[in-house]
Amino acid sequence: MFKGVLFDLDGVITDTADYHYKAWKSLAEELDIEIDREFNEQLKGVSREDSLDLILKHGKKRNTVDDDTFRKLAEKKNDVYVKMIQSFSEEDIFPGILSLLKELKQHHIKIALASASKNGPLLLEKMNLTHYFDAIVDPSSIALGKPAPDIFIAAADAIDCPISSCIGIEDSQAGITAIKKSSALPIGIGRSNDLGTDISLVSNTNDLTYDFLTSTWENNKK
Ligand code: BG6
Ligand code: MG
Repeated sequence: MFKGVLFDLDGVITDTADYHYKAWKSLAEELDIEIDREFNEQLKGVSREDSLDLILKHGKKRNTVDDDTFRKLAEKKNDVYVKMIQSFSEEDIFPGILSLLKELKQHHIKIALASASKNGPLLLEKMNLTHYFDAIVDPSSIALGKPAPDIFIAAADAIDCPISSCIGIEDSQAGITAIKKSSALPIGIGRSNDLGTDISLVSNTNDLTYDFLTSTWENNKK
């Protein structure tokens, strides 16, 4: 049976994936770069700096931006995003997530956060979820971001569980790739068009129950 669950945050625990997109879109517009939701699938799960790099390359403007301007642009996006999440509370937790966290606790399954977001701890506090997490990985301590597996490996280490006895839950292409490489078992939230047909998927977080995780685990370990 699995011993730990490694959670992504944005788009898994709450709807912030959309806020990241809106904040990037408004910055991109200022830079005269067009981005849409399809392009945004590449940004999900990816660090702030790597996201800005992808947007600038998409607009063929990477060479026009020096280090100082790059840093200021990343800061500007974050300022817009942080304003958007100020009013977050328990009401913003996706359906089914709180009951899943409670069920995992009842079954003595360890819980870790493996989010690329430096705003992760702030959001958990706002949603009153911090105490459910046995470990929260600091993404700035991880050299290689998603799609590299490092943050999931660090999360499993932090809860003292072998990575092969963990489930990772993700909504992003980069995150699913990272979980696969880490050798945890991936569960995706989203569409097979975006996340692939070779993993277990739910379209709604309400479906993420302890029973669903258990049967997914058993089916994959047969
Ligand atoms: C990930 C999001 O969880 O965190 C990305 O999916 C975001 O969209 C990344 O860029 C970094 O977040 P932050 O809050 O540190 O800028
Ligand atoms: Mg995500």
